[in-house]
Amino acid sequence: MSPSFPSSLFITLCLWFLSASANAYLRLPLLHKTPLPLPSPTQTLLSDIHRLKSRHRFVNSPVVSGAPSGSGQYFVQLRLGSPPQPLLLVADTGSDLLWVTCSACRHNCSSFHSPGSTFLPRHSSSFSPHHCFDPACSLVPHPNPNPCNRTRLHSPCRYRYSYSDGSMSSGFFSKDTATLNTSSDREDKLEKLSFGCGFQISGPSVSGPSFNGAHGVMGLGRGAISFASQLGRRFGNKFSYCLMDYTLSPPPTSYLIIGDEQNTISSNRKMSFTPLLINPLSPTFYYIEIKSVKINSAKLRIDPSVWSVDELGNGGTIVDSGTTLTFVPEAAYVKIVTAIKRRVKLPSPGKLTPGFGLCFNVTRVAKPKLPRLSLELSGGSMLKPPPRNYFIDTEEGVKCLALQPAGKEMGISVIGNLMQQGFLFEFDRDRSRLGFSRRGCAFA
Ligand SMILES: *[C@@H]1O[C@H](CO)[C@@H](O)[C@H](O)[C@H]1NC(C)=O
Ligand SMILES: *[C@@H]1O[C@H](CO)[C@@H](O)[C@H](O)[C@H]1NC(C)=O
Ligand SMILES: *[C@@H]1O[C@H](CO)[C@@H](O)[C@H](O)[C@H]1NC(C)=O
Ligand SMILES: *[C@@H]1O[C@H](CO)[C@@H](O)[C@H](O)[C@H]1NC(C)=O
Repeated sequence: MSPSFPSSLFITLCLWFLSASANAYLRLPLLHKTPLPLPSPTQTLLSDIHRLKSRHRFVNSPVVSGAPSGSGQYFVQLRLGSPPQPLLLVADTGSDLLWVTCSACRHNCSSFHSPGSTFLPRHSSSFSPHHCFDPACSLVPHPNPNPCNRTRLHSPCRYRYSYSDGSMSSGFFSKDTATLNTSSDREDKLEKLSFGCGFQISGPSVSGPSFNGAHGVMGLGRGAISFASQLGRRFGNKFSYCLMDYTLSPPPTSYLIIGDEQNTISSNRKMSFTPLLINPLSPTFYYIEIKSVKINSAKLRIDPSVWSVDELGNGGTIVDSGTTLTFVPEAAYVKIVTAIKRRVKLPSPGKLTPGFGLCFNVTRVAKPKLPRLSLELSGGSMLKPPPRNYFIDTEEGVKCLALQPAGKEMGISVIGNLMQQGFLFEFDRDRSRLGFSRRGCAFA
């Protein structure tokens, strides 16, 4: 929960269920989509980098968030409205708001939009915007000016949600019924899910081909309006996911699980834990603390202060499912690159790969031996990802380090979704801790 919202406001975001089964949790299939037409991984990832590089300082605005990028994304299907309209949303732990692209179209909509390409609120009997004077409306950022007539029956709550790269979604903060599949293979009708009905969408990370056909973003952040917060009260205040390796064929299925599925599959996962920290100046994000970095077994001499959050709220490390690559402070990046270079006896490619600082030509070796990167986290746990989580094939025979320096203007380190692949991650919001396990994905 975000400390910046008075708790009385939470009550107004209550959820009502037509059916409720005890101890159920929510299991939503996570899909991975590759943009069409198929660009090279380098192109895809570079657009991600450009978006991230233009991040504003986080202190400038209360709701800037990790921009969801169109590449290497994980999607969740949500059915919204009565009757339900299926929508594909980017699963994003780096933002709070759930929003969908909306069209005010009432008649003959298929001549304006290809079927299923947008949410049609006028085709849903249960849709309504929050009133601008409704307490729920105070939970979203507003446009300026923000017309609101308290006495008018219909004066919708206007929102304007900005991402750190300047992308934004604006429209009416609304509510409608969501139809969800629970673990007990039942359909739950979730009334009054609050979401942004977006009429104006702009910016590279939420529109155009890079958004990859998504209908919106499912914000899973810490804030009161996020999908995780709204559903946490019904299913349990934690969520987990496994992001499967999307280069595998056929692509494996994985799930976003909201609530506690502990009774069913906890037995042999051997979870490690690290505290989730709160930065009051960026209450959306799930922060973790990196203590040190090892390459193979050698601890790098990195000043620990490069990992900390300063008094302006800059710095620190977040876990973000909506960003592909991993970003570390410049000082740490330089040390990591140097340490890897020293241990790898592979030639450099003939030409530079734009956007990547360290690449190897691996055409001559069948199984190149790459050093192991491990992150020591607060609480004593170690995140030891396999090399494929931080080395990617940018072209035939070329492997590049999928780590980027987080410049000053970015002001934050990010554990991106590539680094998270193959691990079960559990965001336990009540206990404020992140659990992770390399064994946890076997069931998915
Ligand atoms: C919608 O379609 C119907 C028949 O399919 C047609 O009679 C009507 O003129 C159309 N309306 C608009 C606004 O295009
Ligand atoms: C607010 O709405 C009421 C009722 O519709 C109307 O009488 C009043 O003029 C409106 N006030 C403003 C400032 O628009
Ligand atoms: C929900 O469950 C029904 C019946 O089990 C199934 O047909 C449908 O595909 C499921 N939908 C999603 C989004 O999982
Ligand atoms: C990698 O090395 C091989 C020969 O060792 C060479 O033919 C090839 O062009 C190199 N690839 C790149 C991208 O530099």
